[in-house]
Amino acid sequence: MKDIKILAIESSCDETAAAVVKNGKEILSSTIHTQIPIHTLYGGVVPEIASRNHLEKIDGVIKTALDDAEESLQSVDAIAVTKGPGLIGALLVGVAEAKAIAYALGKPLIGVHHIDGHISAVYIEHNVSPPFMCLVVSGGHTSLVNVTDYGKYELIAQAGDDAAGEAFDKVARAIGLGYPGGPKIEEAAKTGNPEAFELPHPKITGSLDFSFSGLKTAVLNIINSYKMRGEEIDVNDMAASFQKTVIDTLMEHSLLAMEKRGVKRFALCGGVAANMALKEAFRAGCESKGIEFFSPSPKYCTDNAAMIGIAAFHKFTRGEFEDMDLNATAQIPLY
Ligand code: KG4
Ligand code: ZN
Repeated sequence: MKDIKILAIESSCDETAAAVVKNGKEILSSTIHTQIPIHTLYGGVVPEIASRNHLEKIDGVIKTALDDAEESLQSVDAIAVTKGPGLIGALLVGVAEAKAIAYALGKPLIGVHHIDGHISAVYIEHNVSPPFMCLVVSGGHTSLVNVTDYGKYELIAQAGDDAAGEAFDKVARAIGLGYPGGPKIEEAAKTGNPEAFELPHPKITGSLDFSFSGLKTAVLNIINSYKMRGEEIDVNDMAASFQKTVIDTLMEHSLLAMEKRGVKRFALCGGVAANMALKEAFRAGCESKGIEFFSPSPKYCTDNAAMIGIAAFHKFTRGEFEDMDLNATAQIPLY
């Protein structure tokens, strides 16, 4: 069979990324331009600044990805792009770019759901194929799904309020660690005492859905009561206590779902899965129950275009292409 090479573009939040992916498995190149230094000034992602920076960087990022892969716009078989969910202005930059390339070169255009991308990242380094259960933990999503086939998902549980990553970001800001919250909390937690603060950890009653807003509010209340007493909070202890509570909650819900459904294989994906404490807790939890565990390495957990190229390959093989009226969408269901 002829090799299928896909140029993939991702611009849904604060990373401008492009990759060339061969046959849905081999990453010929993966280029990421991060906007972290820009948004650090403001303590979080400023959507309008993100869009402008994507616009400025996208051509160069695509050129680097093609050069690194020793490919060209002419030599790839299809153009893939994240169509949503994400920041609308940021998404539009990638979608407009992908449409222009596909139209000019007469190549097929593939629109990928960002979460389909995060889950597909697991295929890069592991020999795993559906069915398996997957927990996606990112800045915008906390979703526990059954992966029934490539690109086919069945929702088991999700967060109705703050996603896990969002809670990391908000708590980091509140304890003065700033943006980007996840990596900063992980670093601070290494020298903190996870038992220092008693944080709410609701028991599971019926639904397996997640909720992190109560935990976030509890942290804010503790910080305020320290402030009112004129006392300093130990940032590392709070980071460690918060991180442990998030890990325990995610583990409890996921292990219960695995047990109920007799799952044999489990994957952990999304930006928060870059957290080593979380990854190792899940690895140990799954191994103790004889469940095979898979998780992409950190560079494929956080936003990248390689994962979009993998998801796009499976759409390519199914003939799922987009017309030139493809538009970016801030919210799109996965299921
Ligand atoms: O998947 P992602 O890169 O973008 C979205 O799709 O949202 O995830 C970003 C989220 C942010 O909330 C960030 O704080 C979190 O992932 N994150 C982490 C770590 N690295 C990124 N959370 C905890 N520990 C980390 N090491
Ligand atoms: Zn993401």
